[in-house]
Amino acid sequence: MKKIFLNIIVCALLVGILSSCSNTASGDENSVTLRLAHNQSETHPVHKSLVEFAKLVEEKTDGSIKVQLYPNGQLGSEREVIELTQTGAIDVAKVSASALESFNDVYSLFSLPYLFDNKDHYYRVMDSDIAQDIYQTTDKIGFIGLSYYDSGIRNFYTKDKQIMHPDDLKGLKIRVQPSATAIEMIKLMGGAPTPMSFGEVYTAMQSGVIDGSENNETALTDNNHGEVAKQYSYSEHSIVPDILIMSNEKWQELTEEQKQAISEAAKESTAFHKIVWDEAIQKAIKDAKEKGVTFSTPDKEPFKKAVQPLHDKFSEMESTGNYYKEIRELANQNE
Ligand code: GCU
Repeated sequence: MKKIFLNIIVCALLVGILSSCSNTASGDENSVTLRLAHNQSETHPVHKSLVEFAKLVEEKTDGSIKVQLYPNGQLGSEREVIELTQTGAIDVAKVSASALESFNDVYSLFSLPYLFDNKDHYYRVMDSDIAQDIYQTTDKIGFIGLSYYDSGIRNFYTKDKQIMHPDDLKGLKIRVQPSATAIEMIKLMGGAPTPMSFGEVYTAMQSGVIDGSENNETALTDNNHGEVAKQYSYSEHSIVPDILIMSNEKWQELTEEQKQAISEAAKESTAFHKIVWDEAIQKAIKDAKEKGVTFSTPDKEPFKKAVQPLHDKFSEMESTGNYYKEIRELANQNE
């Protein structure tokens, strides 16, 4: 079924590519339009930052590159758009680092619970050469990373049960991103992990297929999960960035100046997003409270203790060991 869906998308895109070729022929011969897919709505902060990215790309390339956005998961789930980016059917995609884990082990690091001590530590790492290095590790499998967007801190939310201790997860089916690390995290904490793509969560929770999920606060409002989930608990277990990826084939077709312009636009939109994000979180909390969501703050230590085996594993695994050490070393360094 998934394959058929993917084929339909590819065909639809090919038709689109042909019609955009004719646009090019009737307009500026050298202008290129990049297709950018993501799974959030047009009101979500990440969409606003991607609009900023598109604007900056166009400005910095004097209109020789335009970016067309495809929001709302209309070109498929995160896994599907990564595959389409690999084949070059999509040029750019914004996906969660968790979704990249099954394409390259190194991305599993970002789903490691309590990898980052806090937001400052996270920014320090994501704005360092460590992230730049990781972005290049996938060129051989068809895409590279351009930059990241803050996607907040992930916390548990359920229909009606406060999660104040890992024991509270016992017997609960908790939706996780399709990531082996996230699955392992829930198992270690005592819950029953249920991986599924983001677009399926609302219905799954409403129909009782799952008891809860974990995400940042915008999921309660922009994605309406707060209509069903009334308890949100600040376990602060992970900080998973969104990554802007680009088809390596398309990247290699660009001139050095165009590459430079896109890199700068990506970086500047990341900075823009940090401001948009903080405002969006404050608003999401306020709106969710008005809709009857209760926020609670558990002691994080028992959660951290439960997932220690994952830290032991990541510090030793060949693909992640060095990065893990470098990231942890940045925990206590202030700029
Ligand atoms: C975050 C992230 C999305 C992702 C979602 C998820 O909202 O920004 O890219 O799809 O989490 O839990 O799947």
